[in-house]
Amino acid sequence: MKVAVRYFSRGGNTKKLAEAIAEAVGVKAETVEKPLEGDTDILFLGSSVYAYGVDKAVKTFVGSIDVTVGKVVNFSTAALIKSTYKQVSKLLAAKNIPFAEEEFACRGSFANLHSGRPNEEDCAQAAEFARQIVAKSEAAQ
Ligand SMILES: Cc1cc2nc3c(=O)[nH]c(=O)nc-3n(C[C@H](O)[C@H](O)[C@H](O)COP(=O)(O)O)c2cc1C
Repeated sequence: MKVAVRYFSRGGNTKKLAEAIAEAVGVKAETVEKPLEGDTDILFLGSSVYAYGVDKAVKTFVGSIDVTVGKVVNFSTAALIKSTYKQVSKLLAAKNIPFAEEEFACRGSFANLHSGRPNEEDCAQAAEFARQIVAKSEAAQ
């Protein structure tokens, strides 16, 4: 099963989750600057919101996917909104790429809000979430 992790992170919060997820599933976390290398069964895609939208780099990455992706699994940090699921969903729908219903989202620090988040517990939960996604997909094969 080919698994990849890509993320965009301006301030490092989403990067923390990306690294925890990547370590849990045994791959390297790469930024969205790095295109996917070949067909991918599960793509963990990390993003955040800045004034209600995901960064242009995430849009560019999704728009330029030219390999087959079995499914994308969303993960995100944000200060106020629940997750970036809705925003990313639109990008993937335009490319007909399947989007998993399950996602991982937690608070990300912003100004004086949510200091220290994602914290160790958030990262441990993200890692466990990712392990379960991969295990379930492997069992279904
Ligand atoms: C310029 C800017 C705008 C933001 N706008 C929002 C927003 O509209 N809604 C929200 O929930 N969080 C907002 N945030 C908070 C970020 O989503 C949060 O800090 C997130 O964890 C940042 O992730 P990153 O460190 O991976 O870039 C904003 C943060 C910045 C810096």
